[in-house]
Amino acid sequence: MQTLLQNIHPDKVPKHVAIIMDGNGRWAQKKGLIRTFGHRNSMNSIKSTLEACQELNIPYITLYAFSSENWKRPEQEISFLMDLLHKSLKQNLDKIHENGIRLMAIGKTHNLPEKLSSQLEYSIEKTKKNQAATLILALNYSARHEIIRATRSIAQKVTEGSINLNDINTKVFKDHLYTAEIPDVDLIIRTSGEQRISNFLLWQAAYAELYFTEVLWPDFRKKDFFEAIYNYQKRERRFGKIEEQIQDQYSNLS
Ligand code: FPP
Repeated sequence: MQTLLQNIHPDKVPKHVAIIMDGNGRWAQKKGLIRTFGHRNSMNSIKSTLEACQELNIPYITLYAFSSENWKRPEQEISFLMDLLHKSLKQNLDKIHENGIRLMAIGKTHNLPEKLSSQLEYSIEKTKKNQAATLILALNYSARHEIIRATRSIAQKVTEGSINLNDINTKVFKDHLYTAEIPDVDLIIRTSGEQRISNFLLWQAAYAELYFTEVLWPDFRKKDFFEAIYNYQKRERRFGKIEEQIQDQYSNLS
């Protein structure tokens, strides 16, 4: 793992990594356990990933913790997940805070169970001035909904006259997303071998590199994260330009 870390260029790490944590259920079923064991064991993967981000000075990390579509799962699994999210937030809040991590949430968080949404609100408030890194939890999240929500909000302002129709551009649109103040996603990692985006950060990931690994999320550790970053750094990001034009790979995007 040391060699892998040595091969990572510290000046070229992505600013924003987003992860689709997939394969919890399959991990458990392969071991003859019920699916929820997979969710519980995924907490170690989250800890490893956050430590790796800190080692590499990655400032923004987004975790897809619960999609709007996940409400279709069996009731028992949903309540287990809500409880796990609540408990893990509560238990880890001091550590998150001590590490200078600012917590944020994206999605319809007001529709989550009261216990979880108030813990979330409290944790966000407590960590809001932290500057070492930002951990964004996508909860009850749907990228299509986020885009519709932004469109409605802009349309409302056009109707009221505070935005001119001709002034709507990518900057204005971005400013109406949950992630208004967050840089675009540079890298999306999805575990478990599935190769889909699943309604995750559709606007923000317009130029993101995609990395798919067969590793199931509860098995995902620092070395797997470093592997993803190493792979990302080997790619050439052109943002629509030709090779010769790329002076600065992280130049302005419109
Ligand atoms: C996908 O695996 C995983 C989920 C839908 C839940 C992920 C959420 C957590 C692990 C809780 C995170 C907690 C915090 C504090 C961020 P799956 O169940 O779809 O697996 P499968 O595809 O093998 O069935």
